[in-house]
Amino acid sequence: LLVNASESSGRLIPETLFGLFFEEINHAGAGGLWAELVSNRGFEAGGPNTPSNIDPWSIIGDESSLSVSTDRSSLFERNKIALQMEVLCDISGANICPSGGVGIYNPGYWGMNIEQGKTYKVVLYVRSSGPINVSVSLTDSSGLQKLAADDIIASASDVSDWKKVELLLEAKGTNHNSRLQLTTTRKGVIWFDQVSVMPSDTYKGHGFRSDLFQKLADLKPRFVRFPGGCFVEGEWLRNAFRWKETVGPWEERPGHFGDVWMYWTDDGLGYFEFLQLTEDLGALPIWVFNNGISHQDQVDTTAVLPFVQEALDSIQFARGPPDSKWGSLRATMGHPEPFDLRYIALGNEDCGKKNYRGNYLKFYDAINRAYPDIKIISNCDASNRPLDHPADFYDFHIYTSANDMFSKRSKFDNVPRKGPKAFVSEYAVTGNDAGKGSFLAALAEAGFLIGLEKNSDVVEMVSYAPLFVNANDRRWNPDAIVFNSSHLYATPSYLVQRFFAESSGATILKTTLTNNSNSLIASAISWKNPEDSKNYIRIKVVNFGSITVNLKISVGELEKSSIQISGSNMTVFTSTNLMDENSFSEPRKLEPKPGPLEGAGEEMDVKLPPHSLTSFDLLKG
Ligand code: AHR
Repeated sequence: LLVNASESSGRLIPETLFGLFFEEINHAGAGGLWAELVSNRGFEAGGPNTPSNIDPWSIIGDESSLSVSTDRSSLFERNKIALQMEVLCDISGANICPSGGVGIYNPGYWGMNIEQGKTYKVVLYVRSSGPINVSVSLTDSSGLQKLAADDIIASASDVSDWKKVELLLEAKGTNHNSRLQLTTTRKGVIWFDQVSVMPSDTYKGHGFRSDLFQKLADLKPRFVRFPGGCFVEGEWLRNAFRWKETVGPWEERPGHFGDVWMYWTDDGLGYFEFLQLTEDLGALPIWVFNNGISHQDQVDTTAVLPFVQEALDSIQFARGPPDSKWGSLRATMGHPEPFDLRYIALGNEDCGKKNYRGNYLKFYDAINRAYPDIKIISNCDASNRPLDHPADFYDFHIYTSANDMFSKRSKFDNVPRKGPKAFVSEYAVTGNDAGKGSFLAALAEAGFLIGLEKNSDVVEMVSYAPLFVNANDRRWNPDAIVFNSSHLYATPSYLVQRFFAESSGATILKTTLTNNSNSLIASAISWKNPEDSKNYIRIKVVNFGSITVNLKISVGELEKSSIQISGSNMTVFTSTNLMDENSFSEPRKLEPKPGPLEGAGEEMDVKLPPHSLTSFDLLKG
């Protein structure tokens, strides 16, 4: 392998090359990154009609002591359902309540993670026909062991109208499968609405579950594409993501049923929070907007202007001044400064649908006129033939077998160098080769990513899909990060992405593989590590074949520097069983192995194990 280390003959990789695609799929947000522990916090998930299904809320007590129903008496106009609890038993008399009380409980998203010493902020709205004495507790899954508790004691006049109650509970024990209970031993009628439990240790208090957030930050993403995916489209337009329903105070958000991935979200993770997430990650937002097309229905181009206006309003929300109509809402939500929104994608996988081109052009013209600097991403693939509409980027998705993914390492070698740039916003090996996240899948993806890195003059952005899966509700396999209420692990596909975390904004160097193998691909970057302020060359090689390869690496044109032995190292990612996976019980079964690089220098003889990704970090002195 010849590496031309001269910076001047290299090329700058776009600052944005490697990023994330966050879709509300697999409970990635609701019951995932969004740290809210209560599921269906406003009792809205069962629909707007009454009586409504309150699932996963359940009842503590039997029919002789309690009757629970829903009505439309909520304080909040956009989500009218509230829960009504008629308590038939009492502290004394003929029908005495059980000692633990009667009421309701919420198990969260397959159990709440309550940890000793941590605090949890409970917010709820309550109303009653008389005085109340409600115990708010976090308990184990049986309700018998209390981990934290407090009481709401209020006189009739206090709660004759809706009253907001806030409590801070400190956990005295740990249980990953806990629940929230609202119980009483006093006869009367009580209404509850908008019940929230948030851990106090979310990232910067912004509501992001800290361990999941950190896993994203570790990839040093330069952009976040959100909130889908098919989630943006909806199976039907009426169930698609509508940003205006997801902003403002959380209590006032109606929530919605995502009918592609088939679950309810309270939309706590709304448009504002997505922008905040992106900013917190030091990344740029890529806002995917529904362009009037779902999987099953479409808005005619003649009637799409209201959708276009929604898009313009969303841009004003993100970056308009605080005295603009939508910018002022952003400011009241705590972010007077604009968000750095520079990219909008129009639709998801909608190219070729009847109204796509017509709708797209309406959006394109309006956005371009109002915000000429915003880059617009088309759903149509321009890698094979030129687009019949203007665009700054074209979206490219690939889900395929391992062999095919590896073969796609050269996909962009011959695409036109002029015209819109490629945004590979979804890639993954799927199907039998992938299982729930195999090493084989990740290795093929590594080869593909090296190909993209080498073609980063035309490919400006790349993200894996999907990012997250809550193991209790897998809607899509495989995924980069697997989690439950308390634990997480990275799949090999995630671990491969870490090899590329330093590439965005680095210089790609010229490399020539003298070995004519069909199983190898290599790239080299030079970059400055901000952690030690030192300059490195990183050479990455994938050996997709089943035999060890002896490779001679020659680093030439070093320009007044040399390779330092001390400080250079290598990392090998390999597995003898290609279908091996990580799991909750063996989260680090597959892991890249770092080590010293003996013989580091301008000329190196290295061994590439069968089926491996190896990176050589050479310190320049
Ligand atoms: O990543 C999962 C799904 O795959 C996305 O929602 C969609 O864009 C694609 O079909």
